[in-house]
Amino acid sequence: MTNIDWQGLRQAAVAAMRRAYAPYSGYAVGAAALVDDGRIVAGCNVENASYGVGLCAECALVGDLHMGGGGKLVAFVCVNGDESTIMPCGRCRQLLFEHSAQGMLLETVSGIRTIDQVLPDAFGPRDLEEVQ
Ligand code: THU
Repeated sequence: MTNIDWQGLRQAAVAAMRRAYAPYSGYAVGAAALVDDGRIVAGCNVENASYGVGLCAECALVGDLHMGGGGKLVAFVCVNGDESTIMPCGRCRQLLFEHSAQGMLLETVSGIRTIDQVLPDAFGPRDLEEVQ
């Protein structure tokens, strides 16, 4: 899939960010991704009074992916409350990797990058298959 509507993805991420439940950090996040069947999935962060239990926007996005029938993520954008692009945190890069299409692209603070660039030498499902 070469024609990625980055602006449309960003709009979906901004719309998701506006749904954020972030009363503790005050830092709203929205994430959106294009799926290999053309769907757009999205999520916002959902915090908790037990701070460590809070969910990143990417967690909700992965839930949306599976609730809508699954598939692989082709392109991804994440924004904060200023609508600025932010990087997915380390844990969320791992979450995204699990569901990534080959060569998945991310809009990052340093331009368009592949999932392999933002999570080099990732541990993934294939590593589990190698030891039986
Ligand atoms: N956050 C995300 O939702 N995704 C990220 O990749 C980075 C951080 C959220 C978690 C927390 O609710 C808030 O941003 C401040 O860390």
